Amino acid sequence: MGYRVAVVGATGAVGREMMTILEEVKFPISEIYAVASRKSMGIEISFGTKTLKCQDIEQFDFSKVDIVLMSAGGDVSKAWSEKIGALGPIVIDNSSAWRMHPEVPLIVPEVNPDAVWDAKKKNIIANPNCSTIQMVTVLKPLHDAAQIKRVVVSTYQSVAGAGKAGMDELWDQTKAIYGMGDKEPKKFTKQIAFNVIPHIDVFMEDGYTKEEWKMIVETHKILDPTIDVVPTCVRVPVFVGHSESINIEFESPMDEHLAREILREAPGVAVVDKRENGGYISPIECVGEFDTFVSRIRNDTTVPHGISLWCVSDNLRKGAALNAVQIAQLLDERGVIAAVAA
Ligand SMILES: NC(=O)c1ccc[n+]([C@@H]2O[C@H](COP(=O)([O-])OP(=O)(O)OC[C@H]3O[C@@H](n4cnc5c(N)ncnc54)[C@H](OP(=O)(O)O)[C@@H]3O)[C@@H](O)[C@H]2O)c1
Repeated sequence: MGYRVAVVGATGAVGREMMTILEEVKFPISEIYAVASRKSMGIEISFGTKTLKCQDIEQFDFSKVDIVLMSAGGDVSKAWSEKIGALGPIVIDNSSAWRMHPEVPLIVPEVNPDAVWDAKKKNIIANPNCSTIQMVTVLKPLHDAAQIKRVVVSTYQSVAGAGKAGMDELWDQTKAIYGMGDKEPKKFTKQIAFNVIPHIDVFMEDGYTKEEWKMIVETHKILDPTIDVVPTCVRVPVFVGHSESINIEFESPMDEHLAREILREAPGVAVVDKRENGGYISPIECVGEFDTFVSRIRNDTTVPHGISLWCVSDNLRKGAALNAVQIAQLLDERGVIAAVAA
């Protein structure tokens, strides 16, 4: 028994990772299809030992699949997800197009798995923003223990978060510094090589960026609308792996020892926290991993119950493709959809 699965955006940074993870976790699949834009038609995509030929979204028959893993950007999702859902399959969408729709569940399986029961309302499930996913995965077990009041977070987001074009730009500019290529910014607003840019997505009227707004409203939808979230989102010249410095204030007693104990038991979290040279995780070490890593847990002595910590995760995996595949696993485990005979 298995599911018929289509990956839309299969040529992209997230789509390729989805293919790899579906195979790694041995998701029960009877048929798999790679789909992208017309220009990618016929491009070969690997799936385990198989080679798939990429198909054109305009010509693909979505009624023959059960699950669509969609990672082709917001505009494509706005144009296609509802139409696909109406044909029967459940769309798990990586873009921001549907995240705040009241009839679309926004899911991080370690945090709000029961929201999966709302999947059938529109046959669309939204995957949260990469920075939100790793943050709420860490906040959830702490919130259960001592009720979080306020979170101040600064992100250090890799260029992979801006897709393949973002990674190409960092590579080209890095070479250009040594006189071998183009260093004009195209994807980013300023030079990203050997620099950091305190600006991700568009500016909102209140001075926050849309990336920062997403971290606030998505945390409210997934975890708890009473938590105050104050984010600053920054792009850094790292290829893959987002880092976050998080300061958390609680209603009830919490300290570094209790937080460490709780996080050691938390699903999807790994604590690496030695107070010595290199006793913490940096983004380069989280690449290819499933867990969200937590380091530098320490007391914030300026408030009655507060801690600060450092958290790192592979944004193409837990921040996108892995979380989407885990949602598909949730659909399977909870029997929201039925597998068909292979
Ligand atoms: N990168 C991350 O860390 C991350 C994290 C969370 C969410 N996301 C979201 O995931 C989505 C994909 O991101 P990405 O980083 O993988 O981007 P990407 O590397 O630029 O890939 C984009 C994919 O979308 C496809 N596509 C573009 N226009 C299309 C169209 N009109 N019809 C069908 N397919 C089309 C592309 O196919 P062609 O090659 O044929 O153009 C490609 O496969 C975005 O919504 C992004 O916001 C990304």
